[in-house]
Amino acid sequence: MAEIYRREKWATRIGLILAMAGNAVGLGNFLRFPVQAAENGGGAFMIPYIVAFILIGIPLMWIEWAIGRYGGSKGHGTTPAIFYLLWKHNFSKIIGVFGLWIPLVVIVYYIYIESWTLGYALRFLLGLVPEIPTQVGDSDSYLQPFREFLSSYIGSGQDFLKPSVYAYGIFILTMAINLWILSRGVSKGIEAFAKIAMPTLFILALILVIRVLLLETPNGSAIQGLNFLWKPDFSKLGDPGVWIAASGQIFFTLSLGFGAIITYASYIKRNQDITLSGLTASTLNETAEVVLGGSLAIPAAVAFFGVANAVAIAQSGAFNLGFISLPAIFANMPAGTFLGFLWFFLLFFAGLTSSLALMQPLIAFFEDEFGLSRKNSVLITGGIVFFSAHLVIFLNKSLDEMDFWAGTIGVVFFGLLEMILFMWIFGGERAWEEINRGGLIKIPRFYYYIMRYITPLFLLILLSVWAKEYIPKIIAETHWTVWVTRFYLIALFLFLALLVFIAEKRKAQEVGVAEE
Ligand code: TRP
Repeated sequence: MAEIYRREKWATRIGLILAMAGNAVGLGNFLRFPVQAAENGGGAFMIPYIVAFILIGIPLMWIEWAIGRYGGSKGHGTTPAIFYLLWKHNFSKIIGVFGLWIPLVVIVYYIYIESWTLGYALRFLLGLVPEIPTQVGDSDSYLQPFREFLSSYIGSGQDFLKPSVYAYGIFILTMAINLWILSRGVSKGIEAFAKIAMPTLFILALILVIRVLLLETPNGSAIQGLNFLWKPDFSKLGDPGVWIAASGQIFFTLSLGFGAIITYASYIKRNQDITLSGLTASTLNETAEVVLGGSLAIPAAVAFFGVANAVAIAQSGAFNLGFISLPAIFANMPAGTFLGFLWFFLLFFAGLTSSLALMQPLIAFFEDEFGLSRKNSVLITGGIVFFSAHLVIFLNKSLDEMDFWAGTIGVVFFGLLEMILFMWIFGGERAWEEINRGGLIKIPRFYYYIMRYITPLFLLILLSVWAKEYIPKIIAETHWTVWVTRFYLIALFLFLALLVFIAEKRKAQEVGVAEE
């Protein structure tokens, strides 16, 4: 039986790099990074962060690119099938299901947050935002109008959330934009969009950074904010919590351990470079994160409210720096609503290039393993995401629970497994060769040892410390909405496992028919 079905490929190298950078550069760079850095002591956070980038980020990035390119050359873009290529054991398919499950769970809440950024951008563009006090005074009363604005947008409640109709409408619009781009395919959709979105994003961020760095009030200056972030603080290096947070951020920001890089990499030509391209995409992400992301939310908050208050705002909730404090600060400045628009539009583009990447694995799965058309694959995937998102939209605590299991613990677990599969079971030397084939730069040999020993060990320690810290908290959590979410997450996993099973049966039958 001749395989007529040809997988798509990235059209250009620059397109590939921008799409991969778009995959990685997301809400995490501008919203999550500042919060993590502030919560973990600024300068104390940056040392573990850089170490984690070198010892976890870069090696895993190369490994995921290599695994993906290898799978793609054999017609597969998702981990259930690719892991089976690496290790001919049924167990590898079960591990592989996580590579579908993690991006699916993450997209379910990620795309909803992304829709807020679009909703906010439009409101700012139209000038439909709250009045703020002209005097900065104390941060609490100053931020109150925007705090209320956020809580009426997404709704609040013990059990159920009641978002505004506008928020729900914008969510549907955001879904539609995503599905439309995805339905155009890898090179005509994702790649073409990344070529526009990524340069736009860097320019927007640069404009905002310049504006923010000029901020100065009686309470402080933006430069003090930069000092807070960049003055190394060695006193906290012994605190495992800071190391965990820094490593977790490296995973999240580089999109590692999600299966999403693997899927993108499966559209790379068999002998095309991955060493230099992978490094370039990672570097672009880190630039966007520490240079741009690090020069916005924190310095602005420090300039207006001082270091201590800025840290308190970050600690009071994951979205408070980005959705409350920064827009309130902009709103007070000349052309403030326009600056607010730029900020949220920047976030929207950052989020959009990432949500495309989070949805592509499941789409690729339907195409590769079920032979479905792109359009149908996009529609089915969109349907599953849309349906599941209602949990996050209407149930209190659901978002955090999903982020914890898939976006925080799941990725480290998955990252460790793929590293073992590739560097140990598939074989260290084979894997090394696979990574370096066609490479435009030569990776120094010591990275071989880092990949084989140091990173897995690092991740193992991370997971154990985590388990010790979190298992008691997990057991203590009894709110019913959390349990509903957990059952739903398990159901999703079983559903995906079933799909993998069916796909395989179908393929076996096709081969059988062809042989008759
Ligand atoms: N890296 C993205 C960000 O910084 C978020 C993200 C995590 C992601 N995992 C992903 C995006 C997988 C795409 C695919 O916001």
